[in-house]
Amino acid sequence: MIWQPSNVYKTAKLGFGVNVGAFTEIGNNVVIGDRTRIGAFCFIPEGVTIEEDVFIGPHVCFTNDRYPPSPSKKMWQKTVVKRGAAIGAACVVLPGITIGENATIGAGSVVTHDVPPNEIWAGNPARPIRFNRDARYAMARVAEAMRDTHESE
Ligand SMILES: CC(C)(COP(=O)(O)OP(=O)(O)OC[C@H]1O[C@@H](n2cnc3c(N)ncnc32)[C@H](O)[C@@H]1OP(=O)(O)O)[C@@H](O)C(=O)NCCC(=O)NCCS
Repeated sequence: MIWQPSNVYKTAKLGFGVNVGAFTEIGNNVVIGDRTRIGAFCFIPEGVTIEEDVFIGPHVCFTNDRYPPSPSKKMWQKTVVKRGAAIGAACVVLPGITIGENATIGAGSVVTHDVPPNEIWAGNPARPIRFNRDARYAMARVAEAMRDTHESE
């Protein structure tokens, strides 16, 4: 479902059951996976891939040009949001970023680095604030950190 007015360019590919809020722009060659929900007033330019079951809050702004205006479209960088991730309202995602599977980004964040899977990042610039819903993954990270501490003793 694409709520109007929205602007979806010709070569964008939207999967099954995707929901796009009103006043959103989706550029050429953008790929959006099945069941992903995109809020109103988002900007998703060419170079962005969003996998399945992702939540994109309202007013989220992706970018593809680190030093605008680029002399050539070839300088546009690629951004990937992996399956199950959630991006809070009014975030800005810099070009060339990967947001990992099931990661969460807090509202109003500016994402300047890749975000590992299953972590919650927030702020400007976004930094990790805690692990995400996947308790098994969090436990694995804790075990890894403890192992590293013991090894360095
Ligand atoms: C990121 C988020 C999931 C964290 O929730 P939480 O795990 O319950 O975290 P807490 O509220 O306990 O906050 C933990 C710390 O992070 C800070 N923090 C939380 N969200 C933040 C944000 N968006 N930006 C900056 N800092 C944030 C808190 O101030 C707190 O810091 P403190 O300990 O110094 O006070 C939540 O705050 C958030 O932003 N959700 C997105 C909401 C949204 O946009 N929904 C879209 C649907 S409309």
